[in-house]
Amino acid sequence: MTMSRARRRLLGLCAAAAAWPALPALAREATAARAPRAGDEADAVMAGLDLSGRTILVTGCNSGIGFETMRVLAGCGAHVIGTARDAARGRDACAAVDGRATPVVLELTDQASIVACADRVRALAPRLDAVVCNAGIVLGAHERVGAVEKQFAVNHLGHFLLVNRLIDRVLAAPEGRVVTVGSGNHRDAPDGGIQFDRLDGEGWWERGYSHSKLANGLFSWKLARRLAGTAATSNCVTPGHTRTAILRSTGSKYGENARTPAQGAAMPCYAAAHPAMAGINGAYMSDFAPARQSASQTDAAMAARLWQVSESLVAPHLQPWPVALRGG
Ligand SMILES: NC(=O)c1ccc[n+]([C@@H]2O[C@H](COP(=O)([O-])OP(=O)(O)OC[C@H]3O[C@@H](n4cnc5c(N)ncnc54)[C@H](OP(=O)(O)O)[C@@H]3O)[C@@H](O)[C@H]2O)c1
Repeated sequence: MTMSRARRRLLGLCAAAAAWPALPALAREATAARAPRAGDEADAVMAGLDLSGRTILVTGCNSGIGFETMRVLAGCGAHVIGTARDAARGRDACAAVDGRATPVVLELTDQASIVACADRVRALAPRLDAVVCNAGIVLGAHERVGAVEKQFAVNHLGHFLLVNRLIDRVLAAPEGRVVTVGSGNHRDAPDGGIQFDRLDGEGWWERGYSHSKLANGLFSWKLARRLAGTAATSNCVTPGHTRTAILRSTGSKYGENARTPAQGAAMPCYAAAHPAMAGINGAYMSDFAPARQSASQTDAAMAARLWQVSESLVAPHLQPWPVALRGG
C-alpha cells in the first residue's frame, strides 16, 4: 500500500508530538489543515481552530444554518452575537450552545429594529471579526414591505443597512470579514437581473427568492471592491441544498440529497473564520472553492445601481460610509 506525502508528513508530526510534549498544538494544527471537502460538517472543517478573542455576528441564529454556524464558531472560542427576531427564540438558541453566545433582537423588515440591533452590537463589541449575513426567507406568496418585495427587503435590504451601521466595527478588526450567505438560485433571477423599475415584485415575485439572492451576490461583490486596500474582506458563499425550516411557507419539499444544517454551516464558518480564507476578497464560493455564477452577479453597472437604490431605500438610517470606502 502506498502512503501519500501529506499523510506521511501528518503522521510524522503526530509521532513527533507524542515524543515531545511541546508539540501537540502543532499536531492539532496539522490535523485541522486537511483540505475541507464537499459535504464535510462545520465541526470537522473548523476542528482545532482557536477563535478566542474574536467576536462574530451571525444573523438568524435560532434556526438551520445560522444556529449551526453560531454553535460551531462559539465552540471554537469566538464570542458569537446571534440575532433572532423573537427575543425568546434568540435567548434559547444562545443558551443551547457551548461557549459564549449573546442574543440580540433583529427584525429585518423593520429599519428601526435594524438600527437598534446595530446600536446594541456596537455596545457589545468594539470590533467585529466577522459579520455573517445569514437570515433569510423563501416565500410562497407575493408579500411586500412598504413598496418593496419582501424577500428583497429581508434577504438583501435589511442586511445592507445592518452592514452599513457596523462597517466601522468590521474595519476595526485586524482582518474583518463580511460573509453574505447567497445561493446558486441567483441564476434563476428574472431576465435582466435586479428589477429596479418594479421592486414591488409585480410580475416577477415568483422568482423573488432568486432575485434576492442575486442582490446578495451583487452586494457582496460591490462591498469587496469598496473594501479593497483595507484589511477587511467581503465574500458570498452558498451552503448547498440544506434541510432547514426555510421552505415552510412554500409547500416545496427537500430533495433526497439535502444536507444537514451542520453540513450547510461548513461554508459560512469557513468564510467567517478559517485561516485559509485570510485575504480572500470578492469571491463567490461553494464547497470551499470558487463557484459558477451568472454574469449578472458580477455586473459592475448592476452592482453600482443596486448600491445606489439600496442607499435611497434606507436613506433616513444610513451612516456616512468611511471616506476611504466611498469610491469603490
Ligand atoms: N436551506 C438551503 O437549502 C439554502 C440554500 C442556499 C442558501 N440558503 C440560505 O441560507 C440562509 C439561512 O437559511 P436556512 O436554510 O438556515 O433557513 P431557516 O432555518 O429558515 O433560518 C432562517 C433564519 O432567518 C430568520 N429570519 C427570517 N425572517 C427574518 C426577518 N424578517 N428578520 C430577521 N430574521 C429573519 C429566521 O428567523 P425565524 O425562525 O424567526 O423565522 C431564521 O433564524 C438564508 O440566507 C438562505 O437563503 C439556504
